[in-house]
Amino acid sequence: MGKRVTTQVSAEEIAQQYKYIEILRDYNQARISRLGRPVKYNIETFGCQMNENDSERLSGMLSEMGYSESAKRTDSDLIIFNTCCVRENAEQKVYGHLGALKKLKENNHELVIAICGCMMQQPEVVEHIRKVYKHVDIVFGTHNLYKFPELLNTAVENKGTVIDVWDSTGSIAENMPITRKESLKAWVTVMYGCNNFCSYCIVPYVRGRERSRDIEEIRNEVVKLAQEGCREITLLGQNVNSYGKDLEGEYSFAGLLRELDRLDGIERIRFMTSHPKDLSEELIYAVRDCKKVCGHLHLPVQAGSSKILEKMNRKYSKEQYLDLVEKVRKHIPDISLSTDIIVGFPGETEEDFAETLDVVAKARFDMAYTFLYSKRTGTPAAKAPDQIPEEVKKERFDRLLALQNHVSRDINDRLLGKEVEVLVEGLSKSSKTTYTGRTRENKIVNFKGSPQLVGSLVRVKIDTVQTWSLLGKLV
Ligand code: SAH
Ligand code: SF4
Ligand code: F3S
Repeated sequence: MGKRVTTQVSAEEIAQQYKYIEILRDYNQARISRLGRPVKYNIETFGCQMNENDSERLSGMLSEMGYSESAKRTDSDLIIFNTCCVRENAEQKVYGHLGALKKLKENNHELVIAICGCMMQQPEVVEHIRKVYKHVDIVFGTHNLYKFPELLNTAVENKGTVIDVWDSTGSIAENMPITRKESLKAWVTVMYGCNNFCSYCIVPYVRGRERSRDIEEIRNEVVKLAQEGCREITLLGQNVNSYGKDLEGEYSFAGLLRELDRLDGIERIRFMTSHPKDLSEELIYAVRDCKKVCGHLHLPVQAGSSKILEKMNRKYSKEQYLDLVEKVRKHIPDISLSTDIIVGFPGETEEDFAETLDVVAKARFDMAYTFLYSKRTGTPAAKAPDQIPEEVKKERFDRLLALQNHVSRDINDRLLGKEVEVLVEGLSKSSKTTYTGRTRENKIVNFKGSPQLVGSLVRVKIDTVQTWSLLGKLV
């Protein structure tokens, strides 16, 4: 069997979408002069950085259509929810918001409400929205985001609900507009989808199979970002280690890092997520060797017990994970490690959970994102008979958090008196003279500075340590 090769959405299809953008721009110009005010949109994004990046694409299309962004839903002409379904609480939040919009729509019949993203890839969700939230105008999924101009145009013309969700795609849409939230740092998606089917996870069902972007497209995007003044990029993929496996030719993620490291202008390159089962030595060497690639690895362990890891279909044992951490540290001693951990996977006993605590103590993560297991319909783990009661999950979660906080604090304590390199991002939220930025290892550092430092690399000597951030003085 030959390998499945990812293709690009045809240039004609992309050109078609630009035509709809133009039609809507004319439409909006007429509205702006009729109303005597800008037409505005508001996007609420749930979930991961992939979704953030997708919302930046929607923003790009909307600004070309003549919409201005608004921070408020109440004064917007178009409201979009870009949804996530990785855990149940993410879904519940969306339904809450949608219900509240009914009143807004009653008061403003021209208001367009659109909902998209991962939740929409589940047929029962679309059915529920169709039945219960009749005030929603447009429903679309993760695979046809680039078709948003066409869908919006149909909704504006027909005034009926437009529903268009695709089951899958083998293509990637390039060359659509993008308006980014930040200018110094940018997300760059390098691959879409996931083939891993961890038994608890809905992502492979809602994001489809792995599809890598063409290396030329990625390089062009990064070059353009550098020209626009961007200093840091984060390469995104559910499993970046698989980058290139679906492309014609010999490509690897390590190769991509080495390629991007050579580009001028960008100071720092980050990436996420690496699946421990196929983190190659080649990648470790690339992180070690590439000047711009930061010494930070997000390496989700998910659980400590090998029995649970097997049930999760993670394809590594506790020992293999700890060996991998050791190997990474041997080659890159200063690397900072972050992880994801799920507490209360079906069948997790107190002994299994103790193994998770043991991994946290041994691996010494700089940071851990911890989650209560959430049952996702359609995934194998949801059918497991031995689900863990909520209160047991919560109690374990609290213990895990206490241990991780202790470890994070301890690691930060060792930075006291040390000098670190900080990319200055801007003023900190709480002060007019305190500036904030991150170290290469992704630690937040606050210090007294001045506006002209924003966007540059400075050296800061750490004099105060907290669990989640560091304070210091410019040197
Ligand atoms: N592709 C990445 C992460 C994707 S989802 C990876 O493989 O690591 C982000 C995190 O959400 C996961 O790492 C996992 O810790 C968590 N997660 C996924 N499904 C979950 C579920 N059903 N319940 C609780 N947490 C879940
Ligand atoms: Fe989900 Fe596993 Fe894929 Fe990550 S690797 S997105 S946890 S199935
Ligand atoms: Fe959520 Fe979809 Fe990301 S389910 S975590 S937004 S890929």
